[in-house]
Amino acid sequence: MRSNCFLFSALGVIESVGCPALSWRHASDAVLPARIQESRPGAAVVITALLDGRPADSIPLTDSAVLRGDGCFEAIRSYSGRAYALGWHLDRLERSARALGIPPPHRDDLEDWCARMAAHGDGVVRVVLSRGGAVPGDEAPARCVVMFHELPIPKPEVNLVTVPAPWHPAGEWYELAGAKTLSYAPNLAAQRTAQARGFDDALLVASDGTILECPTASIAWVVDGVIETPMLALHILDSITRRTMLMLAEGRWKVAEDRFGESRLASATEVMIMSTVREITPVTAVGDLSFEPGPITATLGASFRSVVDAGRGA
Ligand SMILES: Cc1ncc(COP(=O)(O)O)c(C=O)c1O
Repeated sequence: MRSNCFLFSALGVIESVGCPALSWRHASDAVLPARIQESRPGAAVVITALLDGRPADSIPLTDSAVLRGDGCFEAIRSYSGRAYALGWHLDRLERSARALGIPPPHRDDLEDWCARMAAHGDGVVRVVLSRGGAVPGDEAPARCVVMFHELPIPKPEVNLVTVPAPWHPAGEWYELAGAKTLSYAPNLAAQRTAQARGFDDALLVASDGTILECPTASIAWVVDGVIETPMLALHILDSITRRTMLMLAEGRWKVAEDRFGESRLASATEVMIMSTVREITPVTAVGDLSFEPGPITATLGASFRSVVDAGRGA
């Protein structure tokens, strides 16, 4: 099967070429990365993408990621052209792929493709692994898109409101529990619900009020000097930023990873959310409860930045 691949320059399409069906091991092919510059006035997003290691601007309409959201993904922050915690992200991608039964590309290729995309500068490298063709006629095996895009500067503080998350496993095991699958529609709907109520984002809670996570971030707070955060056994995402926070907290503050009800937040003196995009961001409100950005959040945020600046990470 042949699919169309397009080569782009910063100014636009140079040429369109037919690419043979792609296998996982094409990363060494010396081709320019695709570069699609959004030309609408005011649009600052630059997207650059590789499909199975080759420049591309699209994925077939018949792909399972398009038709069924059947796949998994990672969002990796690139700082000054270097992917942060790439090893942890790719470990997590491989775990998600295993849960879905999708064979991931060879690890060397993934590393190579991500490094090539990260080299574009400050932004986000997204890796999307789909099961492949999803209709008769497209029997393609798993496809992997690795793309780079710039990042709008995230807000320095956010406010949240609790939103019930009946779709969340919340500790119940099922085969995809904890996997970062493409099926984010419920999370994004919760985000929109929160925004419609005038908040920046949702704090997802189980039907019994257990605090889980935000739609695209993990959460922690401080009670009596102890950092508390929902435990991974609730099948929240094993967030890379949360993991970094726990490492930074070690030896400085006590940490409790457990099941907490939403009433616990009434005792908190500071609250923070953590994600690849938002790093460690103070939370100024959860519904009616208000919080000042606190010293532990500030110290963790600064330490996180130092880790990034030092080019460390997994
Ligand atoms: C549901 C959920 N929880 C937590 C996070 C934060 O994870 P990370 O720190 O790895 O970005 C994300 C990130 O997208 C997420 O989607």
